[in-house]
Amino acid sequence: MEKFNNQLIESAYLELKQEFDLLDDKSKILRSKTLTDLLKSIKDQPDSNRAQFGAEVNRLRDFFQNLIDQVNRRVVAKLDQIDISAPFDSNLVVSERPHLLRFDQGSIHPINQELEEIISIFNLMGFEVEENLELDDDFHMFDSLNFPKNHPARDDYDNFLLEDLDNQGHHLLAPAHTSSMQHRILKKNKDLLLTESIAKIIPGRVFRNENIDARHEHTFYQLEGIYVGRNISLGNLISTLEIFLNQYFKKELNFHTQPSYFPFTEPSFEFVMSCPYCDGGGCNVCSMSGWIEIIGCGMIHPNVLNMAGIDSKRFNGFAWGGGIDRLVMMKYGIEDVRYFESGKLNFLRQFK
Ligand code: DAH
Repeated sequence: MEKFNNQLIESAYLELKQEFDLLDDKSKILRSKTLTDLLKSIKDQPDSNRAQFGAEVNRLRDFFQNLIDQVNRRVVAKLDQIDISAPFDSNLVVSERPHLLRFDQGSIHPINQELEEIISIFNLMGFEVEENLELDDDFHMFDSLNFPKNHPARDDYDNFLLEDLDNQGHHLLAPAHTSSMQHRILKKNKDLLLTESIAKIIPGRVFRNENIDARHEHTFYQLEGIYVGRNISLGNLISTLEIFLNQYFKKELNFHTQPSYFPFTEPSFEFVMSCPYCDGGGCNVCSMSGWIEIIGCGMIHPNVLNMAGIDSKRFNGFAWGGGIDRLVMMKYGIEDVRYFESGKLNFLRQFK
């Protein structure tokens, strides 16, 4: 039997071991509240004790990781003995086809799991989902969003270009933001404005030629939102984002706005929230500032509405766009954005 030289860790071990034996999905133990609370409490230990306490908690986690690895190895060894070349009989139920009884059946990617939650919050506020395109053109990426020709703001979005050309002779591109869907969606839905407002969210995968590190990926996910109607105010924008972020992080955060610049909104803002990880006290996630710039937003520029065939003298609205990966990272304390695209099973299994 394992022994830990700290009373608290020893009793956590006994509790977790019992739980482990009962679990079908053994990897759940690594996400148990008991273990994650212990890991989080390392930083609160007095200086004199922190290193030793941390080492013991990590030993506890490694102990369970080892047990899980052992169980996995046993299952794989069993699967290896099965003759998978035997004729496939589709009438057999799964339990009679042992080679299909995979220990590890895969799971929904954490971004998709969180996206479902995000969508359901916006659905409750009346927003509907529109799909994003992963291949787009210069017009939708820039012109339709009021980027003047040759404007330096275009350089902020370092696109990947394809060799294929669009019908204006520009290279097709992998969109660098979900805002490139705005024009299409406004145009497609403009008749709604006769009776109601346009309230859409557009989740999507976007691509930028970034130098990759723990905070930057070439491929990541954004959520775009647009709301257009009559007499829409900045207050409507702010309360929509506040309600969403409070619901998503399941706490009452503090907010403020910061002036910014986007060609497609006027005025433009960065929406800033108190760090949900440290509640504004200062930690690594918020670079010790207690605040996080989380969403770009503003009132939709009249030119964007007019180009989509919506009379900006009669209608106005707001839009926003922000990274989904960043929200998920902050919610779960994930330090490295590269995990999402890595296919690392140890990472993905934690979100089963
Ligand atoms: N598309 C911007 C970006 O990726 C974010 C953004 C800012 C989207 C303001 C918006 C907006 O819809 O209104 O940097």
